[in-house]
Amino acid sequence: MLKLDRRALTMGLMLMATAMAGTAAMAADGLPPMKQKDSYKVGFAQTESNNPWRIAQTESMQSEAKKQGWQLVYTDAAGSAAKQVADVDSMIAQGVDLIFLAPREEKPLIPAVMKAKRAGIPVILLDRRVDDSVAKAGRDYVTFIGSDFIDQGRRAGEWLVKSTGGNAKIIELQGTVGSSPANDRHKGFADAIAKAPGMQIVAAQSGDFARDKGRQVMETLLQAHPEATAVYAHNDEMAMGALAALEAAGRKPGQDITVVSIDGTRDALQAIVDGKIGAVVESNPRFGPNAFETAKRYAAGEKIDTWIKVPDNFYDKSNAAQSVSSAY
Ligand code: AHR
Repeated sequence: MLKLDRRALTMGLMLMATAMAGTAAMAADGLPPMKQKDSYKVGFAQTESNNPWRIAQTESMQSEAKKQGWQLVYTDAAGSAAKQVADVDSMIAQGVDLIFLAPREEKPLIPAVMKAKRAGIPVILLDRRVDDSVAKAGRDYVTFIGSDFIDQGRRAGEWLVKSTGGNAKIIELQGTVGSSPANDRHKGFADAIAKAPGMQIVAAQSGDFARDKGRQVMETLLQAHPEATAVYAHNDEMAMGALAALEAAGRKPGQDITVVSIDGTRDALQAIVDGKIGAVVESNPRFGPNAFETAKRYAAGEKIDTWIKVPDNFYDKSNAAQSVSSAY
């Protein structure tokens, strides 16, 4: 009887030790582990599909999943942060091995990140951040893979200062309210033009990163500010919308008003070639290879940097023509 009890005790202690080892592995960095397997089922929660940048990003993720032989559970939040939270919920319920999340806005997606963590599913943020005073890379999610949006805004601002001789009345078409690219692209640009006292933002409003919204907002702001001599658009789609509004109002973009934007879409590069947009700071949407490689390294137990920075090119009339055909 005593012998049996001892064996049971030993077994119990061994089970406890195993469980504690598992807890310790999680507690070391607080992140859920990812088992090494030949193939995975991973989620990609996309924010919307209303512009060429998003479509290029989705294609890159889908083609890399295919190349790796992994199953990709893809969702499109159609521009709704609430739907994106529900999309992540459904991925958790489906028991995916990891979630790639492109969070539409900085704050509303935090609960989704935390819920995945509690469910033991690692999250990698792609292209946009969540508020890092609440959820932290390396503790609540594995890493952020994406561009330096502040730097993109800075580069656009510095180019505009140079090309206008430090004198411009600027209309700023901002991205989605509460999103990290809108916040950071504004900040970087504002910091850059603050060094030139002749640079003034006369009006700023969100066009939600969308072409038609950008056109409508530009139309309204131009009526209120016909003195504008420059447009800074947080993405190319809004810049294309702005070109339409400017031309409809009889303005001549590239001649009587200078336009600068961010992304690197085919339409925007062609507009540089046509002399209508002055410059575009690239924001590279082709995340697939980097995202899947990072997930594999994480599963292998490698320490992952909290920010995997995506390098971005710069386009103006000196190099746009040669990049049009390979753009998206
Ligand atoms: O988060 C990146 C931005 O989101 C891109 O600049 C924009 O086109 C997209 O919708």
